[in-house]
Parts: sequence; structure tokens; C-alpha cells
Amino acid sequence: MVQILPSILSADFARLGEDIATVERGGAQMLHVDIMDGHFVPNLTMGPPVVQSIRKVTKLVLDVHLMLTDPDTYAPIFIEAGADQVSVHYEAARHLDRTIHLIQGLGAKAGVVLNPATPVSVLEDILPVVDFVLIMSVNPGFGGQKFIPNSLNKIRRLAELRRERGLNFAIEIDGGVNHGNLREIVQAGCNWMVAGSHVFGSADPAATVKEMQQIAELATTAVV
Ligand code: DX5
Ligand code: ZN
Repeated sequence: MVQILPSILSADFARLGEDIATVERGGAQMLHVDIMDGHFVPNLTMGPPVVQSIRKVTKLVLDVHLMLTDPDTYAPIFIEAGADQVSVHYEAARHLDRTIHLIQGLGAKAGVVLNPATPVSVLEDILPVVDFVLIMSVNPGFGGQKFIPNSLNKIRRLAELRRERGLNFAIEIDGGVNHGNLREIVQAGCNWMVAGSHVFGSADPAATVKEMQQIAELATTAVV
């Protein structure tokens, strides 16, 4: 099943509950939540109390993307706050296998994230353990950046590895996703597509989510 995940980074933080209700109305099932610490990435966003508040107003799957230097300390705190799934950067996790098991042991799905400069090959040994892999298609830190085309090759490679090795992790993409590149992303083998500025920057975010979801579903029927 393919999913469009609105990223609340581009929502209006003063009206967060309403913006979440809007994308829910558009049919979103999962919500992408960006956590930045000002160290791993040059930006700051929100902490556990905000995730806790979001948890109270929605039943959507909360997909928490940790862009911070110390995932082992913070992953449990965000799960406690209500995250259903947590992804940690390969570039930040010193003992990735331990971190993945820590997250899963607390009852959440665990994902590993690759920056644009990190090759898929580094995941060879961890793939059987993870629930999902998130490919960054921009350098993390900000919404509204341009999609890096090589990300498509990384998705294709991952999908190929998944097939060859009989694994069933989900593949997620984050950054610069829009109407124009969505079909190709899905056809490359991606399951979860994060979209921030393209959704919340549009005139009608609910309609945008709905349209993107339809495009993504149609694109799966064209996959051979
Ligand atoms: C960037 C974040 C993304 C961001 C994507 O570091 O991880 O989730 O919200 O925003 P768009 O869709 O605008 O590129
Ligand atoms: Zn993100």
C-alpha cells in the first residue's frame, strides 16, 4: 500500500491541530513529524510536548523523523510522547543495530534514514532488522528544497535488494516530493512519500493530499 505522508514542518504551527485535521480530511493515514536539534541539522523544530499534544488530537500514524545527534536518548522519549514509528539517521547512530532494537523493544516501528551522500550499500547488514528505510531526497534541515534526482536510483536499488533477499521493509522518501515526480518515485518502488511544502503550501491541502494519493495508487498499477 502506498501512502502520502504530509510533513507538518510546513504547517502553520499556530494552527497545528486544524492543519492536521485538514490533511486527515484529505485521506492521509500517516503524518510525518520532523524533529531537529540544531546540531545534527542547522535548524530547530519541536520537542516531545508538541508530539504529545498532536497525539491527543489525531489517530493518524505518527512517523517521527529524528534529525538529532543522540537518537538513543531521544527515541524512547518520543515513543513515550506518542510516536508510532521512529527513524534515526545512519549518520547519527553510532550503534545502529542497538538503536533499532531499542525502538522496536518499546513497541514502535524502527527506520533508518540515509542522507543524500550516504550510499544504500551501508545498509547491507541491517536491512533484515529494520521496519523501513527513509531516503532523504534533499539535505535534511529545511522544507521546500529541490528534489535530488539520484534519490530515484537509491530507491530502485533498495527495492531490488528487498526483492532479491525476500525482505519486506517499507521504503520512504522525504524532500522535494510533488505532483511532477510522484509517479516516478512510486514506480521506482517507494511505499511512503513525505510531502511538506507541496501540501501545506497549496491552496487546498486536503485536495492536494487526495490527488497525490490517487496518483500514487495509480502508479502502482503500472509497476511491472
Ligand atoms: C527536511 C524534512 C522534511 C521536510 C520535507 O529535513 O525532513 O520532512 O518537511 O519538506 P518538503 O516536502 O517541502 O521538501
Ligand atoms: Zn522529514
